[in-house]
Amino acid sequence: MRRLRVLIPVVLLAASISLMALEASAETAGKGAAASSPSKLSAPGRAPESAGRRLFVQGCSSCHGYDAEGVKGAGPSLVGVGEEAADFYLRTGRMPLDRPGEEPIRTPSPYTPAQIRALVAYVGDLGGPPIPEVNPEDGDLAEGQKLFTENCAGCHQVVGRGGIMPGAVVPDLAAANALDVAEAVKVGPYVMPSFDQLDQSEIDDIAAYVGYIHHPEDKGGWGIGHIGPIPEGMVAWLLAGVALLFTIRLIGERTTR
Ligand code: HEC
Ligand code: HEC
Repeated sequence: MRRLRVLIPVVLLAASISLMALEASAETAGKGAAASSPSKLSAPGRAPESAGRRLFVQGCSSCHGYDAEGVKGAGPSLVGVGEEAADFYLRTGRMPLDRPGEEPIRTPSPYTPAQIRALVAYVGDLGGPPIPEVNPEDGDLAEGQKLFTENCAGCHQVVGRGGIMPGAVVPDLAAANALDVAEAVKVGPYVMPSFDQLDQSEIDDIAAYVGYIHHPEDKGGWGIGHIGPIPEGMVAWLLAGVALLFTIRLIGERTTR
């Protein structure tokens, strides 16, 4: 009991010291963020800022620079990336990124569609390619499968389920629509290469195939979740093993009778 009486104040003291340390570090982190995020407002006498410009200064300039010229170690220049890249990264929620250095992944965007349009227009005004066209309904499925197998399946798997590669998670393409495909192929997000050699009809073919693999007909029978040949093989072994045991047992029972 006496030991407990000594222990309680000691524990309380330790807890309050660590709380104080936490608060102090949070405060310095907050100060760092405030210092790096620009608080400049448009100079008096200049034309009023567009909605896109305002959103950019608030949400993007800490990494991409006040005039989108890039910040070393935080984010690349957006001059010349065009509406193409801006639309892809914003619509798929890849931007704004939480921390520089992490892989941008598909997430629900914090922006409304109108805000996204405004931001895309702002980045587009800095130069670069427009939002690409894509017509999956004109695409050829067989050709798309061939092109996808040659160019994309190495990372995304034949059925688009994605996987892991050194330094990156390759996304499942289940959420990707035709425009995402056309933009991704041209932009080459993160470690994905861009495929400038593909022409419009080939992009339409690939977009048609990606649309198709969202709901593949399982021609070969049971798809087992489309998770690839190794688990499929394991399921086959498991079923075969059970069947074998059953047969052995049947035979065994006959001979002992
Ligand atoms: C070297 C590996 C690699 C190859 C080859 C590749 N990709 Fe990708 N792909 C990725 C990675 C990694 C990402 C995620 C990028 C990111 O995090 O921003 C990605 C993202 C995508 C996305 C966005 C998915 C989403 O949910 O937002 C689409 C669409 C896509 N790829 C299509 C393709 C197509 C079509 C091809 C072939 C023409 C292809 N990829 C070839 C690695 C690859
Ligand atoms: C925490 C830092 C950070 C913030 C905030 C951020 N970005 Fe980025 N952004 C990056 C990094 C890092 C990359 C490079 C990622 C890659 O290679 O895929 C990038 C890439 C991009 C690209 C693709 C550039 C290219 O070369 O194709 C666009 C477009 C973009 N960001 C737009 C925006 C917009 C618009 C916002 C604000 C809504 C924003 N970003 C907020 C760090 C950030």
